[in-house]
Amino acid sequence: MTGKFSERMYNALNEQIRNEYFSAYLYLAMSVCCSEMNLDGTAVWFRKQYEEELSHGDKMYKYMIERGARVKLLQIDEPRFEWSSALEMFHNALGHEKYVTGLINNLANIAYEEKDHATLSFLQWFVDEQVEEEASVEEIIAKFEMIGESKRALIYLDKELGKRKKD
Ligand code: FEO
Repeated sequence: MTGKFSERMYNALNEQIRNEYFSAYLYLAMSVCCSEMNLDGTAVWFRKQYEEELSHGDKMYKYMIERGARVKLLQIDEPRFEWSSALEMFHNALGHEKYVTGLINNLANIAYEEKDHATLSFLQWFVDEQVEEEASVEEIIAKFEMIGESKRALIYLDKELGKRKKD
């Protein structure tokens, strides 16, 4: 059932698949909230982020299958669903991504301790991805902070965010 993984590595990877799908759920909730606020472009941005998190979960899931493990799909918690502004959402998103970075680093530590070099190598993609994710959210926060209370600038920024491609 654990395939080529140690029990510890197997459990940690299953947990991370759950975490990636929880991230997807959280960003989908933010997208819903943006639609409610008539920030349709920002809603698109979070929807893309949702899709990206799904692809992270899928990537890990496929890797586990490839290594002969039977993936265990753990329960996903209900995410928060109310925020007072888009800026608050992005602050929340940044805090969440920093938390995920810690989880990925912890996974890499486990792979190292278990002498699982294949998984350590696999996880490198996620380590790099977290650097990108944190940087892109930080950039958006800086823009929101720059526009302050300007409604006109908010409309423009919302439109820009709506142009986001997949990642
Ligand atoms: Fe899957 Fe946003 O990290």
